[in-house]
Amino acid sequence: MRSEQRGSGLFIAAVLGLVLGVGVLVGAFLISPAGESVDNFTGEASVEYGRRLIRETAALLGPGHEDPAKRYSGTNMDCASCHLETGTKAGTLSLLQATSRYPRFSGRDGKEGDLRDRINGCMTRSMNGREISRDSIEMISMEMYINNLNDQYAVMGETRRQLDEPDSFVEPNRAADVEAGRVVYEQRCEVCHGDNGEGLAAATDMSEGYLFPPLWGPDSFNNGAGMTRVLTAGRFIKARMPLGQPDLSDDEAYDVAAFVNSHERPQRANLELDFPDLTLKRVDSPYPPYADNFPIEQHRLGPFEPIREYYRNLEQNQ
Ligand code: HEC
Ligand code: HEC
Repeated sequence: MRSEQRGSGLFIAAVLGLVLGVGVLVGAFLISPAGESVDNFTGEASVEYGRRLIRETAALLGPGHEDPAKRYSGTNMDCASCHLETGTKAGTLSLLQATSRYPRFSGRDGKEGDLRDRINGCMTRSMNGREISRDSIEMISMEMYINNLNDQYAVMGETRRQLDEPDSFVEPNRAADVEAGRVVYEQRCEVCHGDNGEGLAAATDMSEGYLFPPLWGPDSFNNGAGMTRVLTAGRFIKARMPLGQPDLSDDEAYDVAAFVNSHERPQRANLELDFPDLTLKRVDSPYPPYADNFPIEQHRLGPFEPIREYYRNLEQNQ
């Protein structure tokens, strides 16, 4: 009982915070000097447009866009549903330093990729959509925005950077417990993300996006997305959720991550072609094939240390 009361108090506080935050954002857009309405932007590539694409992806690139050519995303989530505060929040899934990490080799793609390839990686998996043309105003604007974050981060003081770092997730040395995760979900997540993980839309017009994004079901990220990995989701959830009150233990974050990912979500074709070199596949990649004989359940839920050890021995024996 007591924890329920505490939960609902927090919920009200969080909703108020969100509503105020959203209000301020909406206000900022209304008085934006450019003044163009959200869905018929025809200007040139700019940092500001890039920021809006990442913040209001559902409206600008979502499945409900009036221009079918602009329907890139398959969900009504925003990039900022995962890259919090439009990617400016330091730590987990921050976009502050993304620029400095590219180009780099991607084990998943089996080749080197640049920032635009990485954006399309999220577009086609996390957003369950299709690739954005590399030379489009949209792609260039998102890249400009992310480059701009990188420049800002470079001049940010050391102390400010450190203060923002969240607690790190320490992976429990056991299989994640989906049933225990269900209990965490019901007590700490359901109030926002819904009984069926469906989230809460901001308005009946889905192109206005979500107040609380879905965690599974047809409008969620697809089964090839990074968030389907229990360690990636556990790390994010430990650092960020429940929103505004991220106080879960490592065990709770791990179990609820497994519970979230035990549900149906959109299926991506040809996932078996990921990781041409299967020995580079992440231990918690939830879909086959693998270069080992551990059961798929163990790749989905852990424990992961035995899998890592198997690959360490393989390397040593080569
Ligand atoms: C469902 C959650 C989710 C959504 C929605 C999402 N991403 Fe991501 N994004 C991730 C995850 C997970 C990673 C990988 C982090 C890692 O490598 O551990 C990532 C990585 C990235 C990176 C690379 C960051 C780096 O430092 O290497 C970029 C850039 C990026 N996303 C851009 C976008 C853009 C642009 C969109 C919208 C079109 C988007 N993401 C939507 C989850 C998401
Ligand atoms: C107070 C409401 C609230 C609660 C409670 C909450 N979340 Fe969230 N969650 C959000 C919002 C809002 C976002 C999107 C972030 C944004 O828009 O700034 C989000 C984003 C997410 C995302 C990434 C986006 C997506 O839809 O996949 C995951 C995963 C997630 N939450 C998991 C959880 C889990 C697990 C719990 C319980 C431990 C939880 N959340 C509790 C509000 C909440």
